[in-house]
Amino acid sequence: MRGASRRSLHRRGYDAFVAVTTSRKLDARALRADFPIFEQEIHGRPLAYLDSANSSQKPRQVLEAMTEFYETSYANVHRAVHVLGERATAGLEGAREKVRAFLNARDAREIIFVRNATEGLNLVAYSWGGNNLGPGDAVVVTELEHHSNFVPWQYIARRQGAEFVMLPLDANGDVDLSGLDEIARAHRVKVVATNLVSNALGTIQDLGPLTRWAHEQGAIFVCDAAQAAPHLRVDVQALDCDFLAISGHKMCGPSGIGALWGRAELLQAMEPFLLGGHMISSVRYEKTTWGELPHKFEAGTSPIVEAVGLGAAVDYLEAAGLDAIEAWEHELAAYALGRLAEVPGIVLYGPPADRRAGVVSFDLEGIHPHDVAQILDRYGVAIRAGHHCCQPLMHHLGVPATNRASFYLYTVPEEIDQLVEGLHGVREVFA
Ligand SMILES: Cc1ncc(COP(=O)(O)O)c(C=O)c1O
Repeated sequence: MRGASRRSLHRRGYDAFVAVTTSRKLDARALRADFPIFEQEIHGRPLAYLDSANSSQKPRQVLEAMTEFYETSYANVHRAVHVLGERATAGLEGAREKVRAFLNARDAREIIFVRNATEGLNLVAYSWGGNNLGPGDAVVVTELEHHSNFVPWQYIARRQGAEFVMLPLDANGDVDLSGLDEIARAHRVKVVATNLVSNALGTIQDLGPLTRWAHEQGAIFVCDAAQAAPHLRVDVQALDCDFLAISGHKMCGPSGIGALWGRAELLQAMEPFLLGGHMISSVRYEKTTWGELPHKFEAGTSPIVEAVGLGAAVDYLEAAGLDAIEAWEHELAAYALGRLAEVPGIVLYGPPADRRAGVVSFDLEGIHPHDVAQILDRYGVAIRAGHHCCQPLMHHLGVPATNRASFYLYTVPEEIDQLVEGLHGVREVFA
């Protein structure tokens, strides 16, 4: 999987960029005009923002929805009877309904607003794991996880005296399922947690076999969809998972908001995560009882305007079309893999373009990724260099860090050309 240099591929400039036909074609150039951030130059060059897997840029539609809400409808929610209180509550609950539809959840009460995917995953680990895990039980994750879906499970499993089991990656960088029978024989598997799309390699996982196995064991299946929801259709019913977490800032929404979806019956049976205002039914000196879903898990003042922004982001992605976004990213990934292969000494990681979202991780032999990213910045190119919060994966690859270029619905092939030009520049600096 440690990719051989693909220098032998002939140069394919933007003119040779061949679009694959889809039922609904995404017009990245038109969408890009919605994003004010691209109206500037960086170091005298057009901004090539290839760091969307880290955090996405925001279209005017989201920014304006939030500004308008602040200017016309802002108040606290669920506790005022005045007009603004009602408008604000309608804004928050309207956003919850949009997220429900976006994820094809059965019931809006199953959508819990949280700060980000990390908080959603911690909520499940603490509230479900803290009461359901014990000695003899096992939590199973994979070597492909972001730390947000690794560390909380490692911590809670060990705190509860349960086993923490990591499914390794095979030689192709895919999760190796060959050890499942042995794990099932040795442990009572209670949780299986993995991502749908890897943030470091872009791999789109086929979760069917693992979900079925988890349910055969009587385990819950927790899906980290932080990197999937921005890029392809996520359907919690089709995935047959039990919990699923997303982050608003990765999908054209604001930072400070994410959502956890959970099956109502599981959420109802769980203890709350954070305690305080809003999440109660009654409070007496002797005893406090919890509110109904989703309020039981939403202590304190909600991220009201952030939720409105997330709702606007959902509208924006739906208008662009999730299928069209996914198809566009496959095209960009294919183009990038071809163009990057021209760079001497490049090592490409990850699956073929048709099995990856718009993420390409690579190294330049002999040059530290941080140096690469810093020099690229001078070319107006923003990428991420580091371990991508995936240290177990980096360990598997045998590297401390990689460079990662990541794309989204506003990415145009010229940005990839600018990246390749910058990489040739990096090579010259280190020649
Ligand atoms: C796959 C994956 N999971 C979880 C997270 C955590 O997201 P957040 O930092 O928004 O909680 C990220 C962020 O990079 C991610 O890519």
